[in-house]
Amino acid sequence: MLAVAILAAGKGTRMRSAHPKVLQPLAGATLVDWVLQSCEPLNPHRRLLVVGHQAERVQQHVQHRHQQVEFVLQQPQRGTGHSVQQLLQPLADFTGALLVLNGDVPLLRNATLRRLVDHHHRSGSAVTILTARLEDPRGYGRVFCDDRQRVTAIVEDRDCTDEQRRNGLINAGVYCFHWPSVAAVLPRLKADNQQGELYLTDAVGLLNPATQLTAEDATEISGVNDRGQLAACEQVLQQRLRQQWLAAGVSFLDPASCSLSPDTRFGRDVVVEPQTHFRGSNSIGDGCRIGPSTLIEDSQLEAEVEVTFSVVRQARLARGSIVGPFAHLRPGAVLEERCKVGNFVEVKNSRLGADVKAGHLSYLGDARLGRGVNVGAGTITANFDGTGKHPTTIGEGSSIGANSVLVAPVTLGRDVTVAAGSTITKDVADDGLAIARCRQVEKKDWRKPAAPHRSGSVSEAGEKTKSSP
Ligand code: UD1
Ligand code: MG
Repeated sequence: MLAVAILAAGKGTRMRSAHPKVLQPLAGATLVDWVLQSCEPLNPHRRLLVVGHQAERVQQHVQHRHQQVEFVLQQPQRGTGHSVQQLLQPLADFTGALLVLNGDVPLLRNATLRRLVDHHHRSGSAVTILTARLEDPRGYGRVFCDDRQRVTAIVEDRDCTDEQRRNGLINAGVYCFHWPSVAAVLPRLKADNQQGELYLTDAVGLLNPATQLTAEDATEISGVNDRGQLAACEQVLQQRLRQQWLAAGVSFLDPASCSLSPDTRFGRDVVVEPQTHFRGSNSIGDGCRIGPSTLIEDSQLEAEVEVTFSVVRQARLARGSIVGPFAHLRPGAVLEERCKVGNFVEVKNSRLGADVKAGHLSYLGDARLGRGVNVGAGTITANFDGTGKHPTTIGEGSSIGANSVLVAPVTLGRDVTVAAGSTITKDVADDGLAIARCRQVEKKDWRKPAAPHRSGSVSEAGEKTKSSP
């Protein structure tokens, strides 16, 4: 039987942040999301998360996104050993294996954790730790073994002698314990180290036999203690996401310039142009072409949609829609089949029927447009009267002349024509032509009136003439 515990109570002082370290954003999720995700395929019997610093925030975030996590409070935070001591009570009756992970190791692959757990079961050890051999082991605890490759001690970087510091075998912060064995030694931990904390690593030194498994890919064990390491992990996760989708049939013209979120799904033959970013939860249908320089967030795009140089947030785009360049689709924008939304058009909380065209310089907010409506350049739905928002409805086949203002609430029937430059304040029935602007006045043979004689004007010679009294 396997339980998993993630240590996430620390403050993360080295991040210099107002937010708990494990909630730092990372590749479309947070640090702790990636750690939880890495253990999920092991199907653990129990999942425990030790929280402490800003415990409520961490708990709130995690319980919204992950199922069946038990929260254990560590207050105050006196080190990783103290963190695991908090599990003594909730795991009082547990007799299986406990996989412990630091909450700041987001790059672990599930296959590596599986190998660690298998190795632990095969070896019958009291504990098996994950290690890596690093050229630059600075900051990590160093692992010391005897000639039978049994772990004898882990010494923290800051507690090492110069000689010990040269050892490149490091502790990844991932441990598979036989729980009853470690539970027996946890009360014996002492805070006799540079930080005055209770170290989980000291518990490893007290267990026998303690074995280790060295990770094949050392990047997987990277711990995040500062912003530099966070940025490095972002790069690794982004690279993995892109590789996953390249392998699944998505083209990236300049992969390194694009970023993805774990909840973005692509169909086949999608082309992603440079500088394009996907955030949150998206589905991108077959044959879409996205970018360059586009942001798509929490949106669904059906097949064959094109979006260029645009921002699309919480929107739904049906098959064959063409968006941009320089369009802004805001929450609640719904485009039915083959819509065209062009440059400098903003759409918010509006449904555009099939084949609607809004090509230039418009704002459509809280509006419903029937099939085939043509929105002239510069059309604005004036949806806000200073206190509340109001709807605009435009029936199918209607045509709105350029530079019109539709003052909501207002309803236009089917096949209505609005003359260019109109300010529409009243409903228009089906088939009507609405003209709401001043009539043009033309004065024939008009001449500019002569300029009135002004005192103190400058003479041709450039001298000031005296005004007569
Ligand atoms: C730890 C290990 C080190 C290892 C490294 C790997 C110890 C003593 N050292 O060092 O050997 O090489 O990880 O990345 O374990 N936490 C708590 N409660 C606390 C303190 C920390 O839950 O009181 C949590 C933190 O939230 C964090 C994790 O434990 O997720 C590790 O703590 P951190 O301070 O980052 O330890 P490191 O110095 O990185
Ligand atoms: Mg750390």
